Amino acid sequence: MRLFFALWPRAATVAALTAWAGKAQAVTGGKPTPPEGIHLTLAFLGEVAETRVANAITAAKKARGEPHFLPIELAKVWAHNSIVWVGPERTPPALDALTRALRAQLQAEGFAIESRPFAAHVTLVRKAHRAARLPPLPRLEWPVEELTLVRSKLLRNGSSYEIIERIGLAG
Ligand code: 2AM
Repeated sequence: MRLFFALWPRAATVAALTAWAGKAQAVTGGKPTPPEGIHLTLAFLGEVAETRVANAITAAKKARGEPHFLPIELAKVWAHNSIVWVGPERTPPALDALTRALRAQLQAEGFAIESRPFAAHVTLVRKAHRAARLPPLPRLEWPVEELTLVRSKLLRNGSSYEIIERIGLAG
């Protein structure tokens, strides 16, 4: 199974990001992320044997993050992979701590985590082909209350995601 840990937004955040993604796509071209696919990846596991899923969940429970708010303040185009993404100006300390703890616990459980530094980003348009001026973002504070373990299935025209576990952040 292709798995990753992510933050999955609730309805109000999804609605605001979907509306903005539509406006961005209108100027950059490409394909907006559908509402049900909007997320922020914290740790990408790649292919994991089904027998190891419980170990990943155990590791995530040990990460013990704090609930917090994630401001969405920046919108950018990455030319190297043609995506439009949004994210915070600076990763909030609580999110940084959560991601570090999650990755460390996953590594301790024997999962191979990417060594690339964490770049908090939410991909909202793929295959953007015009580096146009992006529309202004609304004021947005994403409430972070849980981690999700997500299964990704690669389809011919994108990915489909299935949340297989939610792990609350109790503080
Ligand atoms: P992206 O949005 O920048 O493509 C599911 O594919 C999620 O995992 C997406 O958020 C994707 O980021 C991210 N992802 C895909 N492959 C990855 C990799 N090799 N390392 C880190 N994140 C990855």
